[in-house]
Amino acid sequence: MTQRVLTGITTTGTPHLGNYVGAIRPAIAASREPGVESFFFLADYHALIKCDEPDRIERSRLEIAATWLAAGLDPERVTFYRQSDIPETPELTWLLTCVTAKGQMNRAHAYKAATDANEAQGKDEDDGITMGLFSYPILMAADILLFNAHRVPVGRDQVQHIEMARDVAQRFNHLFGKERELFVLPQAQVDEAVAMLPGLDGRKMSKSYDNAIPLFEGGPKALKDAIALIVTDSKLPGEPKDPDNSHLVTIHDAFATAEQRAAFRAELRDGLGWGDAKQRLVERIEAHVGPLRAHYADLMAHPERIEEALLVGARKARAVATPFLQALRGAVGLRSMKAVAPARVINAETGTTSKLPVFKQYREADGLFYFKLTASDNLVLLQSRSFAEGREAGGWVKRLKTEGAAALADAPVELGAERSVVEQALAALVAAQE
Ligand code: TRP
Repeated sequence: MTQRVLTGITTTGTPHLGNYVGAIRPAIAASREPGVESFFFLADYHALIKCDEPDRIERSRLEIAATWLAAGLDPERVTFYRQSDIPETPELTWLLTCVTAKGQMNRAHAYKAATDANEAQGKDEDDGITMGLFSYPILMAADILLFNAHRVPVGRDQVQHIEMARDVAQRFNHLFGKERELFVLPQAQVDEAVAMLPGLDGRKMSKSYDNAIPLFEGGPKALKDAIALIVTDSKLPGEPKDPDNSHLVTIHDAFATAEQRAAFRAELRDGLGWGDAKQRLVERIEAHVGPLRAHYADLMAHPERIEEALLVGARKARAVATPFLQALRGAVGLRSMKAVAPARVINAETGTTSKLPVFKQYREADGLFYFKLTASDNLVLLQSRSFAEGREAGGWVKRLKTEGAAALADAPVELGAERSVVEQALAALVAAQE
């Protein structure tokens, strides 16, 4: 079965080399594997929790989107979008908020850390803490559950949030999923094999430690200037160096082949000076990053292309989210008062065919083909996933029309209403064919 992998990137900063090696590069590589369907998004609602500078939010969204695209993310293959383009996300957040125990949120690490810091300073424990920070894990759960992701690649600090998403999903399924399992229980994926890149001072590379090496911004000069600041021991040129005790070497390794790594180590043992070693490192990284930077600069000069790519992504994402949220609304009891109508009409022995639900096949701006089944009151009963070929969509429509509910189990569709309503709608269509 296809594994759906989803991850979000909070848009508060400018990507650095550590982000690239630790998150961006492995995520893009994983998105190319067969049997994987990836959803990557800019978590800009989450950014608002941490940042009240509009210009910084705007700039960061642009830089992060351009970075991922320049690093090789294929928006045809991956669903790449902005969280804030998906209105179903805050809507689902509310449905989840209503079944989340407050006590569990009290125990969330980020919130606990903030209250602990307040207490240590003798302040009121909730001093300066917004409801956004407090509810952060619920918004994140909505991001994940809305797309029924199986796997969520994250850093270790985010594992608790994924566990909370599982808990909320379980509770929601228990309360409202009697007819069918509503949410997939997501799994955190912490990649141990991926190098955690050290920064200039040897601690984990992080903007908050002020030890980061820029990825694209500032061009080759900024890269070179940062590398000049990498801390080394004070051994002079000619003296043998210990490559296994140098974070400069660790950074080098992230951009080098096995042979290049071995050669660099041998040179250091032979007394290569740190200045020359840094020059090697600049060249190594530049060979890798330079061509991507050119693509990045091109995208940054054409923000409208980035906007367009993200809007296409949002459309793809909403083709999944809109019908699913409709089903979730139905599950909790927020149903159209006309929703009984399709069932009644279809059931009717009146023989009225004018009000039969209809299949519509269409093509989206993403170039892919879709179909949906709409009831007489425009309620979307079924929404297909995307197809590369119009024929495939047509094939499914034909099967659903002739086999009815029997074809539902295999059909790549999301239900937009309760299963019984959809089944009756299909039964009516089958009957009308005969
Ligand atoms: N909170 C995550 C972080 O700071 C970003 C994020 C938001 C996220 N929503 C998500 C990650 C959903 C994975 C899945 O890193």
